[in-house]
Amino acid sequence: MIENRSLFILLSGRGSNFIAIHEAIRRGGLKASIAGVLSNLPDAPGLLKAREFGYPVHAIPHKGKERRAHELAVEAVIDAAAPRLIVLAGYMRILGPEFIRKYRHRILNIHPALLPSFPGVHAQKQAFDYGVKMTGCTVHFVDEGVDTGPVILQKAVPVYDADTLEDLEARILEQEHRAYVEAIGILLDSEWAITGRRFAGVGIAK
Ligand code: GAR
Repeated sequence: MIENRSLFILLSGRGSNFIAIHEAIRRGGLKASIAGVLSNLPDAPGLLKAREFGYPVHAIPHKGKERRAHELAVEAVIDAAAPRLIVLAGYMRILGPEFIRKYRHRILNIHPALLPSFPGVHAQKQAFDYGVKMTGCTVHFVDEGVDTGPVILQKAVPVYDADTLEDLEARILEQEHRAYVEAIGILLDSEWAITGRRFAGVGIAK
């Protein structure tokens, strides 16, 4: 078990994944702490919620800044908080290679599809329009590609004939909230290793 159990959250939107993590910590199901919440969009509803919850919040707008200059400002805030894990919770910015190298295997993302299917934006709609009968969500480490890092955990979600896109999105989101909390717990509580692309627990019996 590692000592530092703090998380740093990056978000750009409503922040329901952040709220799910916050709730899991509050209820005692997830033994972790949130060292700070940062957004590139000062008005992001998730950031306003974070302020309400009493977390240190940081708005660092990306507009008008070069990508690396923006990232350096973000890095300074993260480093001051010294978290164990950086949790992307709907953070709609591509992270540059310097950032990723600096925090390798410490940055997590959640994606609303079963990767490697349907990477990029609007993954739920991509899956819905494709006509798959099963989709889901993926928690993965962030690497230099778009939604390509080693997979930590996935949850499958069925697509029903009568579904609207909104039905499917809601069903996936429910599983996202579970998956993120579970994945963070695994990373903080167990020994694990990444071999090639494969993330796996160490010393876990079959
Ligand atoms: C979530 O559905 C998450 O999977 C998705 O953005 C949403 C954020 O919702 N992320 C991506 O598509 C990343 N490629 P939230 O703000 O309510 O957590």
